[in-house]
Amino acid sequence: MLWVKSFHIVFVASWFAGLFYLPRIFVNLAMVPPESVAERERLLLMARKLMRFTSLLAVPALALGLWLWLGYGIGRGAGNGWMHAKLFVVLLALGYHHTCGVMLGQFSRGANRRGHVWYRWFNEAPVILLVAAVVLVVVKPF
Ligand code: HEM
Repeated sequence: MLWVKSFHIVFVASWFAGLFYLPRIFVNLAMVPPESVAERERLLLMARKLMRFTSLLAVPALALGLWLWLGYGIGRGAGNGWMHAKLFVVLLALGYHHTCGVMLGQFSRGANRRGHVWYRWFNEAPVILLVAAVVLVVVKPF
């Protein structure tokens, strides 16, 4: 079980590294002047590769978590409100991941209408999600 938990944490950290860096690329894309086509294409290529990599890393992160929960039964049954709250946080993280994909599509089509300041605030959300998930699973407050 400890091997499963170890690699769960490794892949969760890797998945969130992608969720932290993708919006940072969006901040830069939102600041690129329209005439800088080469810079825009370079940032879009980086974002597409990172999006693919981040999606790949989410799969083992979630699968190993489900193995701990459903396989080893950790957090199952009554009195494990922390696990239900954590699963809600995981759903929010998946929603954030999906939204990054939608935004990348908008940038690729030249249809982005948001400024860099908006993306700087958007970039803070994964920090809050990570802190919430880690506190819930380590402290188990309820
Ligand atoms: C489907 C999604 C997930 C499920 C079902 C899940 C389930 C679990 C379970 C059952 C444990 C073992 C808890 C224990 O031994 O006390 C665990 C450990 C952990 N999970 Fe997840 N997890 C998921 C996603 C995540 C995400 C998204 C994060 C972070 C953002 C995360 C962070 C952690 C950490 C840090 C631990 C180690 C806690 C410890 O050793 O005390 N998990 N997870």
